[in-house]
Amino acid sequence: MPNRKKFIGANWKMNAAPVGWDASDSPYFSMSNIDVVVFPTSIDLRMCTQKKLSVGAQYGRPETAGAFTGDIAMQEIRAVGCTHVLCGHSERRQHHEESDEMISKQVISALQCGLIPLLCIGENADQREMGETKEVLAQQLLAVSNVEGMIVAYEPVWAIGTGKTPTAPEANETHAFIRSLLKDKNTRILYGGSMNSANAAEFLAQPEIDGGLIGGASLKPEEFRKIVDVARAS
Ligand code: 13P
Repeated sequence: MPNRKKFIGANWKMNAAPVGWDASDSPYFSMSNIDVVVFPTSIDLRMCTQKKLSVGAQYGRPETAGAFTGDIAMQEIRAVGCTHVLCGHSERRQHHEESDEMISKQVISALQCGLIPLLCIGENADQREMGETKEVLAQQLLAVSNVEGMIVAYEPVWAIGTGKTPTAPEANETHAFIRSLLKDKNTRILYGGSMNSANAAEFLAQPEIDGGLIGGASLKPEEFRKIVDVARAS
């Protein structure tokens, strides 16, 4: 059995922390047998680290300081107590035109700052329809396939926020393909895209799926708790 601790990430995107996020029985706290990490807005990072949650940023810039209005540096993210950072989420690729080159710099810089990068990759609907999924994923991984210490999140763009998902065995096969491209075979590979309490068990039972990156369902504490419970049991 590979030693890959299950990981459940709550990507709150541009939303406020859900009510009760810091209650003593909140589902957003990390546990000994499973990593639970929240990804709040930049403004809420410090608030969350102060309450002892495991926290990651949704984006970080490699440069340490300078004329980059609106951005935050990896170093600052680490300095407020974060442990993780998303790199190349599809919404950043789409709305901020982040390229694979920029994203690979983020991954390297995160590691240098002592943060664990979660590299997000995934094909869009057209690419899937054209049968280009593997090619797209290989391209997105190309510059960082030798990197050790990161986590990969496979998030098919067409599955994000749509209620559509690949089947669990399909996702498993894609994860196996991703792993085949990585030098570090112990890299954790998460699935993301419309994961919820109803489908989590099936995804998390797959041998190549080491956890989930949850968007919409992570904003509902009781729904999120069920996903965490499934992950703990799987
Ligand atoms: P949804 O769970 O809302 O589909 O979002 C997934 C995601 O983008 C996580 O990063």
